[in-house]
Amino acid sequence: MEEKTDFLKLVNDRQSDRKYHDKPVEQEKLARCLEAARLAPSACNSQPWTFIVVNDKELKNRIAEHTTGKLVPINNFTKQAPVHIVIVMENPNITSKFGEIVKDKKYTLMDVGIAASQFCLQAASEGLGTCMIGWFDEKKVKDLLSIPKDKRPMLIITLGYPAGKKRKKIRKKPEEVIRYNSY
Ligand SMILES: Cc1cc2nc3c(=O)[nH]c(=O)nc-3n(C[C@H](O)[C@H](O)[C@H](O)COP(=O)(O)O)c2cc1C
Repeated sequence: MEEKTDFLKLVNDRQSDRKYHDKPVEQEKLARCLEAARLAPSACNSQPWTFIVVNDKELKNRIAEHTTGKLVPINNFTKQAPVHIVIVMENPNITSKFGEIVKDKKYTLMDVGIAASQFCLQAASEGLGTCMIGWFDEKKVKDLLSIPKDKRPMLIITLGYPAGKKRKKIRKKPEEVIRYNSY
């Protein structure tokens, strides 16, 4: 492949970090990550998201406890991260909702994923580490953060200074996932 552009280098640098230093995240860096998420594209510009920043240590640790698997060993690292971002999926606007019904597509979920990705890429550009967490006890997280009953926290992002090594990306080969002009 051609030499990497700055953006592709950033994409390569971003990884799911599962070890963190005990070092706080500067407010201005956090603000830029949130701004990158806020500026994300969404179907019909619906922006169906709320980002709850959990930086109160005690509360964050209680959230982290509910990300770890009781039966499967998963997400035992989350407490190390000084900040958790909980992304709540909001109701889409009427046009996006109409599209979801007519086209049978979950635009709102896609939107949340794109915003999360932009957050993580900005974090990587700030030298910060992230991990998207999809496995957590939704009910417990809702209770802890007073999220209304009819809303769902879809994703948690752990944020902090990464303490682990950079890994080589494990991905399917281009020829397995890219086709030209026909399936
Ligand atoms: C929607 C979503 C949910 C995820 N949930 C978890 C999770 O609960 N725990 C975890 O350790 N990693 C989780 N990940 C991270 C993936 O495992 C990771 O992105 C993938 O293995 C590729 O590795 P990389 O991010 O280091 O490139 C999640 C990623 C996505 C996009």
